[in-house]
Amino acid sequence: MHYDLIIKNGTIVTPKKYFKGDITVKNGKIEKCGFSEKSSTADEIFDANGLHVLPGIIDAHVHFRDPGLTEKEDFETGSIAAAMGGITMIADMPNVIPPTSTVERFKEKINIASEKSYIDFALYALLNNENIGRIKDFKKTGALGFKIFLGTSTGEIASPSLVNLLLHMEECHENDMRIGFHCETSEINDYYTKMFKNIEINETEKGLLLSAARPVFSEVLAIQTALCYAQYTKAKIHIHHITSADGALLAAEAKQKGIDITAETCPHYLFLDANDHKQKVYPPLRDKNHKKELWKAIDKKIIDMVASDHAPHTECEKSLPIWDSPAGLCGVETSVPLMLNEINNGNLTLEKYVNLASEAPAKIWGVYPRKGNLNPGADADITIVDMKKKKIISVNELHSKSKTSPYDGMKVKGMPVATIVRGSFVMKDGCLTGKKGYGVLIKPE
Ligand code: DOR
Ligand code: ZN
Repeated sequence: MHYDLIIKNGTIVTPKKYFKGDITVKNGKIEKCGFSEKSSTADEIFDANGLHVLPGIIDAHVHFRDPGLTEKEDFETGSIAAAMGGITMIADMPNVIPPTSTVERFKEKINIASEKSYIDFALYALLNNENIGRIKDFKKTGALGFKIFLGTSTGEIASPSLVNLLLHMEECHENDMRIGFHCETSEINDYYTKMFKNIEINETEKGLLLSAARPVFSEVLAIQTALCYAQYTKAKIHIHHITSADGALLAAEAKQKGIDITAETCPHYLFLDANDHKQKVYPPLRDKNHKKELWKAIDKKIIDMVASDHAPHTECEKSLPIWDSPAGLCGVETSVPLMLNEINNGNLTLEKYVNLASEAPAKIWGVYPRKGNLNPGADADITIVDMKKKKIISVNELHSKSKTSPYDGMKVKGMPVATIVRGSFVMKDGCLTGKKGYGVLIKPE
């Protein structure tokens, strides 16, 4: 049999097991995952001996800032950074300018991303007070799901009124679409931010002050709101970027109650904390204990997936005084290396990671079995990693427009060495090999 591509002798990783074997690819799809016949030939044979072969890693929470904020990032630079970081598909957020809250803007965004993206992409639409009754249209146009800001964040997007929230969630339920929530409470944040903003403190205390200005209580109150609506409307919900033990506990209780909730956290809440860092991100980093509890929540499958929440701002903006600078951290290119490093540290297994960053996001957002696995018939999206490769993360080598990273100078062991999207290498041996405009829109199945 002749194939387009054979990946030979790698260690293939699934959420359940790993085993030595080959993967054969034809017409952008996986044909076989196991052993290929000795007589098989291919246009390209990639020797993965000594490497691990993972289902394509999905980053289901990025802000590529296109259109309207392209001084920070655009679909070209964002998708290059993703490809270089081992990501085969991203899902992009709607807080651009103008926000992706009408079907026309949604279509424009599909055009922008189709023209510029190196990897496959999916798009969320924003639900606000102005677009009641449009969920079916967004679904037809190809929305992956929806985003609701319960508290304002970057972009100052107002949350829908209590009644409009109800209407949106009822319509999402009727159309079987999931809504992702940014869970913070603006009135609480404003109250505490005013209180803490003018306190004189030393550098090392700034992280804790940022956390106090947008406290865990603010997150918890918003998660409870989302859960209450989910319970009564039966809409499927997703909680983005859970930062706290308290948030994770609410997710656990809701799952037990039978509410259709999925939960996400991000590398910065798992690797950084407010005690050591003054990185500004919304919701903020918490103290060390929360970080520990988030790892436990991953272990117990309370937190279903990780995503980077890649939210670039210019170097100039990020160097402003802490209260004036915008919130958001770059992360799309560093997320895979950081997680692989943690696997090498013995705190996570590769199988669990593959679930957290490939199978689970694909299932949550309805693109499984096309994405998120290495089974015959799936898109040949593959991330090949070298668990022995060492690297010092250096901000100047990253591909985002914004040369800022909280991980600059950090030593990691474990690096992506190839990113394959629908059978084509977009990154190989640390070099960009893909093409602008190769990525396509991925819709829920
Ligand atoms: O820190 C953040 N930055 N949190 C968000 O919710 C939005 C994001 C951004 O778009 O900059
Ligand atoms: Zn975000």
